[in-house]
Amino acid sequence: MEVLSKSKIIALLSDEKNEQQLWQQADKVRQENVGDEIHLRGLIEFSNICRNNCLYCGIRKGNRFALRYRMSEEELILTVKKASQMGFKTVVLQSGEDLYYDQARFCRIIEAIKKFDIAVTLSIGERTYEEYKSFREAGADRYLMRIETTDKDLYHKLDPNMSWQHRYECLLMIKELGYELGSGIMVGLPEQSIESIAEDLLFLREIGVDMAGIGPFIPHPQTPLAKEQGGTLALSLRTMAVMRLLMPDINIPATTAMESLHPEGRIQALQAGANVVMPNVNSSEYMKLYELYPNKPIEGFSQSDIAKKIENIGRTIGKGYGSHKHKE
Ligand code: 5AD
Repeated sequence: MEVLSKSKIIALLSDEKNEQQLWQQADKVRQENVGDEIHLRGLIEFSNICRNNCLYCGIRKGNRFALRYRMSEEELILTVKKASQMGFKTVVLQSGEDLYYDQARFCRIIEAIKKFDIAVTLSIGERTYEEYKSFREAGADRYLMRIETTDKDLYHKLDPNMSWQHRYECLLMIKELGYELGSGIMVGLPEQSIESIAEDLLFLREIGVDMAGIGPFIPHPQTPLAKEQGGTLALSLRTMAVMRLLMPDINIPATTAMESLHPEGRIQALQAGANVVMPNVNSSEYMKLYELYPNKPIEGFSQSDIAKKIENIGRTIGKGYGSHKHKE
């Protein structure tokens, strides 16, 4: 398989006229490399308290209007239990960077939920090597942290108190510790060029992600970026499709942000290279409060609804853990 050059990637990302062909090609590559199974991950957003202040994010520390919540340890474990009883073989524990969940508390939680025979993905941001190591030893299987953009100047503008280099080093630590690594980007950030998105895709390939999440940036009204344009579904889908061409056998989710821009956004994504869906298993009260961006679909997960949609496009629900399987 030829590796796409940067100029070829830029051409594909820019070509609105032939995007249908790109999506079809990505769908074919998906079919040949990861098959027709769609893996479901039960997403549990367990705290929207965050120490960071990213300009784009609705739960940034500086958003005084955001009502904050944090599940207790018991509530989180019960929610995982519920997800496991619903049939999920993977849960994704996601939160703002909330240090109430320290090393000891988090290790206890991971040990408790591994008893449900479920793959555990953490998505809790930047931590120390020691913490990543102890979470892994406690049984965490995967870690999800988007690099957001590889344009370092843009990254630092989007959060002057964070360091791109540090985030990158966290990704390397996570990989070294033997987690399956998920990362990804937002599409349509202010000042982000097509060339920069092409570099993002090559970066994700270079670090060897096992999963790549790509979604449009959607301006949140209570953030400094409220008046920005945001990303489009079409460019997000083209970006995701090119990711599939670049890394044929990885896991690629149809992201929730795509669904926020179009009611069929996720289904379109599943037909343009994606093979994973992450239904939210929280109560709708919590779902509303975890508002990274507006128009987040607030829907209770129903196995039968999702199964029907998946069946309608000729696919099946994965029965296993849905880990990344390297083709060669
Ligand atoms: N629009 C789209 N995606 C966002 N995220 C955060 N804020 C927004 C927004 N306004 C994404 C980031 C983060 C992930 C959990 O949600 O990429 O890593």
